[in-house]
Amino acid sequence: MNVILETQRLYLREFINSDGFHFYELNNDPEVIKYTGNKAFQSLDEATNFIENYSDYSQNGFGRWAVCLRETDEFLGWCGLKKEKDEVDLGFRFYKKHWNKGFATEAAKACVNYGFLKLKLPEIIGRVYVKNTASIRVLQKCNLKFKKWFEYDKKPAVLYTIKNDRN
Ligand SMILES: CC(C)(COP(=O)(O)OP(=O)(O)OC[C@H]1O[C@@H](n2cnc3c(N)ncnc32)[C@H](O)[C@@H]1OP(=O)(O)O)[C@@H](O)C(=O)NCCC(=O)NCCS
Repeated sequence: MNVILETQRLYLREFINSDGFHFYELNNDPEVIKYTGNKAFQSLDEATNFIENYSDYSQNGFGRWAVCLRETDEFLGWCGLKKEKDEVDLGFRFYKKHWNKGFATEAAKACVNYGFLKLKLPEIIGRVYVKNTASIRVLQKCNLKFKKWFEYDKKPAVLYTIKNDRN
């Protein structure tokens, strides 16, 4: 198990093939994917295949990570950084039963710190549908600031950003 980060209640580790189950379950909840632009996986096999082919760690040296509870090792969701052309995006997704316990904020703050201190990234951005209030709140609590409006899939969205002033 490749643990990347630890926080007070959580650890973030690289995905393992059995996480395919959680990817399937997460995306199978219409409320979880409502503002993500993603669809449900068609089968557990498809989700497992996605994890097996996940190449961000080897290609970029970082990626999205599984977020687990230190106390029980329970998989709560995922959070992390994604390289998109010349930008790095902060993203997160948790099982609904774990919403509003501060887990996304705790994990995302750790990812921003890691991105700036360890990876020396110049900037981290977040893209969110305007209706995704909880997600915008998480970005704000991680000190990302509103930059601009845009449209994604014909729906209003916002871009948040934070620059690295720590190196
Ligand atoms: C977005 C998401 C990751 C947040 O996870 P979380 O662990 O519940 O987040 P936190 O508990 O750290 O913080 C949530 C904040 O949003 C607020 N919030 C939650 N629902 C809200 C709502 N409907 N309206 C306004 N604020 C809301 C909470 O009060 C909290 O803010 P506060 O600490 O200032 O009170 C979670 O809702 C999720 O997985 N959503 C589905 C996937 C998704 O949309 N991902 C983002 C795509 S860009």
